[in-house]
Amino acid sequence: MAEAGHRTRLAVLISGRGSNMEAIARAAEAPDYPARVVLVVSNRADAPGLARAAALGIPAEVVPHRAFAGREAFEAALDARLRAHDVEAVALAGFMRVLTPGFVGRWEGRMVNIHPSLLPLYPGLDTHARALAAGDREAGATVHLVTPELDSGPILAQARVPVLAGDTAETLAGRVLDAELALYPQAIADWLRPAG
Ligand code: GAR
Repeated sequence: MAEAGHRTRLAVLISGRGSNMEAIARAAEAPDYPARVVLVVSNRADAPGLARAAALGIPAEVVPHRAFAGREAFEAALDARLRAHDVEAVALAGFMRVLTPGFVGRWEGRMVNIHPSLLPLYPGLDTHARALAAGDREAGATVHLVTPELDSGPILAQARVPVLAGDTAETLAGRVLDAELALYPQAIADWLRPAG
C-alpha cells in the first residue's frame, strides 16, 4: 500500500482500555515500521486509552458520539478529525460503534479492525461467552479489512489460543488479548509494507 520509505499516517480509533492501540504505537516506534500513529480518537471521553495515548506522546482526541444528532453527524466529525491530521489509514482497536456504509466507503481498503474471535465464527458481541457455550476447544482473534457488513471483511491475519478447562469469559478474553497484542501490530505491518 505504501511507497518504499513512506510511513503511513495511521489513526487508531478506540472506545476503552486501549491496549491494542498501545501495542501498535509501541511497534510503530521502530523506524522500520511502515506506519506512524499520528492520532488516537475515542468516541468516549472516559476511555482509559486516551491517557495511554497521551503518555506515548500521541495526539488523543474525543469525538463524543452522544453529542451528535445521529451516526452521520458523528462520522462527519470523526472524518474531519482524521483529515485534519492527514490520516492515510485507520485501525479500529476496541472501537465499539458500528460505522455506516458511507463512512466505511470513504475509508474502503484503508481501514482495518481486530475482532476477538476466529471469524467467521462469532461476529458481534460476547464472543468469548459464545465460544465457551459452544464448547469450542480453540478461540482467537482476527484482523480484517472493514467492509459495510459488520465483522465480515477480508481476513488479513488470525491468532489462535486454546480454550482451557475451567475458563470463564474473562480468563479466555485475557488469553485472547495477549495474542491480539502480538497479532495486530504484525498484521498492520504486513498489510502496509510494500510487496516485494
Ligand atoms: C479487544 O479484545 C478487541 O478485540 C475487542 O475489544 C477489546 C479492546 O481492548 N474489540 C471488539 O470487541 C470489537 N467489536 P483494548 O481497548 O484494550 O485494545
